Amino acid sequence: MASSNFGFLQSLLLLLLLLLIPRVFSYDCTHNKGLSLSSNEADPPWLSPNKEFAFGFQKLPNEENHFLLAIWFNNIPETTIVWFARADPVPQGSTLKQTDEGKLELSDPQGKILWERAGGAKSMCASMDDSGNFMLLDGDKNPIWQTFTEPTDTILPSQTLNMGENLTARYSRESYGDGRFQLHLQPDGNLVLYTVTMPTGDGSRRAYWATGTMTGNSQLVFNENGYIYVTDGNLWVYNLTKNTAGSNQDFYHMARIDYDGVFRQYRCEKSKTCGLKWSVVKRFPEDICSAILTEVGRGACGYNSICVEVNEEPECLCPENYSYLNESAKNLGCRPNFELPSCRLNGWESNLDLVEFNEYPSTNWPLDDYDLQIGSGVDLFTCKQLCLNDCFCTVAIHNGNSCWKKKYPLSNGRRDPNGNGTALVKVPKVNVTQLYLESLRQNNKDQSTTVLIVSVLLGSSVFINIVMTLGICIAIYFWYNNRLLSISSVSSVASTNIRSYTYKELEKATGGFKQILGKGAFGTVYKGVLASYPKKFVAIKKLEKFEQEGEKEFKTEVSVIGQTHHKNLVRLVGFCDEGEHRLLVYEYMTNDQEEALMDWVYACYCKKTLDKLVENDEDARNDMKKLERLVMVAIWCIQEDASLRPSMKKVTQMLEGVVDVSVPPRPSIYCSTT
Ligand SMILES: *[C@@H]1O[C@H](CO)[C@@H](O)[C@H](O)[C@H]1NC(C)=O
Ligand SMILES: *[C@@H]1O[C@H](CO)[C@@H](O)[C@H](O)[C@H]1NC(C)=O
Ligand SMILES: *[C@@H]1O[C@H](CO)[C@@H](O)[C@H](O)[C@H]1NC(C)=O
Ligand SMILES: *[C@@H]1O[C@H](CO)[C@@H](O)[C@H](O)[C@H]1NC(C)=O
Ligand SMILES: *[C@@H]1O[C@H](CO)[C@@H](O)[C@H](O)[C@H]1NC(C)=O
Ligand SMILES: *[C@@H]1O[C@H](CO)[C@@H](O)[C@H](O)[C@H]1NC(C)=O
Repeated sequence: MASSNFGFLQSLLLLLLLLLIPRVFSYDCTHNKGLSLSSNEADPPWLSPNKEFAFGFQKLPNEENHFLLAIWFNNIPETTIVWFARADPVPQGSTLKQTDEGKLELSDPQGKILWERAGGAKSMCASMDDSGNFMLLDGDKNPIWQTFTEPTDTILPSQTLNMGENLTARYSRESYGDGRFQLHLQPDGNLVLYTVTMPTGDGSRRAYWATGTMTGNSQLVFNENGYIYVTDGNLWVYNLTKNTAGSNQDFYHMARIDYDGVFRQYRCEKSKTCGLKWSVVKRFPEDICSAILTEVGRGACGYNSICVEVNEEPECLCPENYSYLNESAKNLGCRPNFELPSCRLNGWESNLDLVEFNEYPSTNWPLDDYDLQIGSGVDLFTCKQLCLNDCFCTVAIHNGNSCWKKKYPLSNGRRDPNGNGTALVKVPKVNVTQLYLESLRQNNKDQSTTVLIVSVLLGSSVFINIVMTLGICIAIYFWYNNRLLSISSVSSVASTNIRSYTYKELEKATGGFKQILGKGAFGTVYKGVLASYPKKFVAIKKLEKFEQEGEKEFKTEVSVIGQTHHKNLVRLVGFCDEGEHRLLVYEYMTNDQEEALMDWVYACYCKKTLDKLVENDEDARNDMKKLERLVMVAIWCIQEDASLRPSMKKVTQMLEGVVDVSVPPRPSIYCSTT
């Protein structure tokens, strides 16, 4: 009876095989050849039998009537796309068809093929299975093509990543184009996170995290129990995540390399009570702001940005006066809202008064140094000065007693709560583009429109003494009446930025008070050059008749003139108040044609066309009577013959309107009356 026994066993085995083989190796058709799907919203997607996954067209949030061919979690309110066809978004009315030849074809409404995957003649049908895998099946119901072997940025339980395969992050949270980060299971078995510069690919990749599993036979596995690990085919050589409490049947799982470069495992409880929201199980790397640190390349957040970990998520910030390159893709970097320091002679950064530093504690752009100053005297203030006096310096980091100067563009920027450095970011105080445009306007041939008397006269070396007097006239005018030329007509620089100099410094600046520019009623004016970078030429007035005015008055004087910023006024740069020495330091201008101008002002006065002087000054134009009085006083103040100039007391009285202002004579014999 042995033979009959054998026959029984044989048939039992055969039966088992027949039962087992189809279940292990073949899949069910869910959609038959010839079916088509359109991107019209009325057309429902193809669902998996368990209805947990959908295959079809997803409308893009930011692009009007454009769709992505995709697979997504069907039961989760927050759209969660786990696979998408790497093609440009398709317009409404596009169609997906499985052709008679078994090909999967995506075409636009005009019939142009936008994307296709070959099934071959053997391809019989398609299957959207319960694990989220969409397949083309052959006659034996074996997969010919499947989305699990052409992953985009996500893997799902029961999916594997083989050597040579990648996950590529999307461009931004809602934009599905290729982004800047890639998870690559290398042919050597190492699983590596890379920054990539599309579209050059390989050559410009920089690694920022790796498992180090060079087994030569690795596979990244996401198993049904929610474990993610690298196996060498035998052992689990690297465990990325472990399942945490709770049965996996109770959770949806996915792992994705996100647009911010972090590879995260997510899960979401299936029970409706918790709102079906994703939570992060684990992330790689833990702190991407610090993890990406490459000699070249732009770091986690792009150039000129600051990466900050907020609630375990990297957030990309721009320094003040910088803005995002792309407001809807914030990790692409920041650009300055102002012209960069140019190191040109007239660059804004050479005008130290226009420069400001914003301070960022615990912030650094670690690899962008071009200079370092170390010493016990290098405090925060000194560091600022070092950067201020270096036109190449865009940022300085002060840490302890060192000052690191940084070059542009800034990369790998991050805030490190444990870091000790303070970043000092150089920015202009005012809109320098506007200043530049104004100066252009001022320089063009119709300069008459913007120039007030004062600025030009100050530029003169011949009339410098006169001009100083006028400065004081104006100052006193401000002191008593700051309405006509009120702050609104004064430029937006409101803060005083005048410096106190020692007598020795000014003595040195003038080479021992050698070059006299002029002599006035109150003292002598000398030409000097400050030991700053860039060199700053100044006119230094040594006050001789100021003693009796006393300390307080001098200080008030300095502060009033110091706060008087007007584009047409030469600025007070500093002063010296040391013992019996009282000096005022002004900007020095060589030129701006002062006699072309005194003529002009006087002519304007004579022809009663003073409005030309204050073309852009609404306040002044509204009170022409007051303006005329001011100009008359000013012309009195700049009389070449010093004996004709009024006393200070008289000036204030005239300005206040207490005494009448008589018609001033021509200020100089060089002046014509026409
Ligand atoms: C993965 O990315 C690397 C580098 O960009 C590339 O060389 C390789 O061909 C990619 N592999 C696949 C399967 O796309
Ligand atoms: C990974 O986890 C599995 C299951 O807990 C364990 O058997 C294996 O030893 C772990 N491998 C490593 C490298 O820790
Ligand atoms: C900005 O990013 C969005 C995606 O978030 C993209 O659609 C758009 O083209 C980008 N703009 C520019 C100017 O690159
Ligand atoms: C900050 O300073 C402390 C003490 O000087 C030092 O121990 C620590 O390493 C510094 N941290 C960094 C990130 O440099
Ligand atoms: C710089 O930023 C500050 C704060 O956002 C702003 O008040 C200021 O106007 C900006 N300056 C320029 C020149 O844009
Ligand atoms: C600066 O001024 C220019 C010209 O008026 C203007 O186009 C620009 O938007 C301004 N920039 C800022 C940051 O306000």
